[in-house]
Amino acid sequence: MPKRKGITVSRQIMDSQRSHPEATGELTGLLNDLIVAGKIISSEVNMAGLADILGQSGQINVQGEQVQKLDDFANLTIKRRMEQCGYVCIMGSEEDEGTIPVLDGYEGKYTLAFDPLDGSSNIDVNVSIGTIFSIHRRKSHGKQGELDDLLQKGREQVAAGYIIYGSSTMLVYTVGEGVQGFTLDPSVGEFFLSHPDIKIPERAKYYSINEAYSRYWYDSTTAYIEHLKDLDESGERSYSLRYIGSLVADFHRNLINGGVFVYPRDRKSPDKPGKLRLLYEAAPLAFLVEQAGGRAIDDQGRNILDVEPQDLHQRVPLIIGSKEEVNLAERFFTGKV
Ligand code: AHG
Ligand code: MN
Ligand code: MN
Repeated sequence: MPKRKGITVSRQIMDSQRSHPEATGELTGLLNDLIVAGKIISSEVNMAGLADILGQSGQINVQGEQVQKLDDFANLTIKRRMEQCGYVCIMGSEEDEGTIPVLDGYEGKYTLAFDPLDGSSNIDVNVSIGTIFSIHRRKSHGKQGELDDLLQKGREQVAAGYIIYGSSTMLVYTVGEGVQGFTLDPSVGEFFLSHPDIKIPERAKYYSINEAYSRYWYDSTTAYIEHLKDLDESGERSYSLRYIGSLVADFHRNLINGGVFVYPRDRKSPDKPGKLRLLYEAAPLAFLVEQAGGRAIDDQGRNILDVEPQDLHQRVPLIIGSKEEVNLAERFFTGKV
């Protein structure tokens, strides 16, 4: 069905449900509840400077990082809303070490993994942050969902997306039929379709990597980035560097303008495969990028969507963005250059 700019997100979700006669409406319900949570977080993020909510809560999360108050707020908002929505059977969050059960009697047929607030080091400084989500169909048949329901490949996702709290709040999601982008009109509290059928430019304009870590990079990372910095055949500079430090914001810019984002493993933490988490950071963005015509791989050239999750908070090296530059990265990282 052609997408009409300006339609509301609930209309769009209903329209896409209608083209699947077998659909029960549960995914529609799930997405709608998640969007309500996103609107609540958006309004809190916008109020952050005023509401004296800034600052550290003093706790350390399961990744060993400082948790800021807005992270807690976002995490709780999503958990409270989704544990009684009736559409999910189990959840996993960056901020919770174990799986999150839903209320007794409210078990549904989907699972939800999420990063409640990505880019939280930017909260205090008015830089874009976001919520990332990934939805799978449950596999187990008991009453409650199980960890294994969450440990499914990215390829198995039924929906994924993010809400970015930036100069405006946007929702970008996919149910496997392309990528749709909506902008929140805060005066009426509705998301309106502003970016139908998003396609990522085949060639990148930007590369995004934390270059301060270059002393710890393995040779393949160095060679690839140096190659991007070289002049092209006509003696021109081809790329600019952009790195915000919020994955969701770096990804969003690259999705719209063309870019490649790299978070490699490095010599500083040789036992860790990078920093970013597979289930609620890499996999959902990989689903989006593939639906938009881009690619996402790890440093062995494996498609992120085919990486088998073993652990809820598993990390994965991530190379994601415009097709040409990811193809090029694949050659550097797998030793073909
Ligand atoms: P989070 O705020 O959810 O913990 O994620 C932060 C992540 C990601 O958003 C970003 O791309 C990356 O950390 C930045 O890490 P470095 O500061 O190491 O570059
Ligand atoms: Mn994150
Ligand atoms: Mn986070």
